[in-house]
Amino acid sequence: MTTRTVLITGGNRGIGYAIAEEFVAQGHRVAVTSRSGSGGPDGALTVAGDVTDAASIDAAFTAVEAELGPVEVIVANAGITRDTLVLRMSEDDFTDVIDTNLTGAFRLVKRASKGMLKARFGRVIFISSVVGLYGGAGQVNYSASKAALVGMARSLTRELGARGLTANVVAPGFIETEMTAELPEAQQAEYRKAIPAGRFASAAEVAKVVAWIASDDAGYISGAVIPVDGGLGMGH
Ligand SMILES: NC(=O)c1ccc[n+]([C@@H]2O[C@H](COP(=O)([O-])OP(=O)(O)OC[C@H]3O[C@@H](n4cnc5c(N)ncnc54)[C@H](OP(=O)(O)O)[C@@H]3O)[C@@H](O)[C@H]2O)c1
Repeated sequence: MTTRTVLITGGNRGIGYAIAEEFVAQGHRVAVTSRSGSGGPDGALTVAGDVTDAASIDAAFTAVEAELGPVEVIVANAGITRDTLVLRMSEDDFTDVIDTNLTGAFRLVKRASKGMLKARFGRVIFISSVVGLYGGAGQVNYSASKAALVGMARSLTRELGARGLTANVVAPGFIETEMTAELPEAQQAEYRKAIPAGRFASAAEVAKVVAWIASDDAGYISGAVIPVDGGLGMGH
């Protein structure tokens, strides 16, 4: 196993925190961003970073590079929801979600790609969602932002694939985090019924897949969408 320098956005809680824990456990050099500048797991460097602000992302990268060396793996994990039915969805509800989930991922890739091209190695991993391809009532903004990450990964693959970079999408289903805890209990029960596995996943189950996609073993996989959804989105 080659030890890598890994940067995960939104690593202070939820799936991002679990991803950081997994990379740390595997012995990599790990940094996370959080908006407050604290809160990552033990063994990871936590730096301040807001994905809606390119200067903040640039500063986060500069701090990580100074401490841990060139960033070889990025995980665009930071994300938000502003769920509401389309008739009630304001333009701000839409653009705020796009700005964080999609443009935020672009800002990250843009800042990372120069170093990756120089090194002729890079792993870009986007945390999308089953909802990106499956759709979700009340999630026009969120699902559009998550579907677009697939196009981004595939375009990056075509653009930079010959230079040692891979770009993939991990699409979690329902994961036990604060994001899903906010859903009403009845809705959670309904989702559980629709999931062939009959349960939500732990964040650690997503983290294992992300770490594998970044590993030497997955070097010939690019432009893929890898579901971690208990069978919910089969074929989507
Ligand atoms: N939970 C699920 O079931 C599920 C399913 C599919 C996909 N996902 C995706 O997985 C990712 C993580 O979700 P989660 O459930 O772990 O969510 P979460 O518990 O709500 O955590 C979201 C993370 O994103 C960060 N974040 C939000 N806006 C940010 C910004 N502008 N700049 C930097 N960081 C920002 C948050 O930081 P703060 O602490 O500062 O707010 C937090 O660390 C998201 O992209 C989500 O869409 C989740």
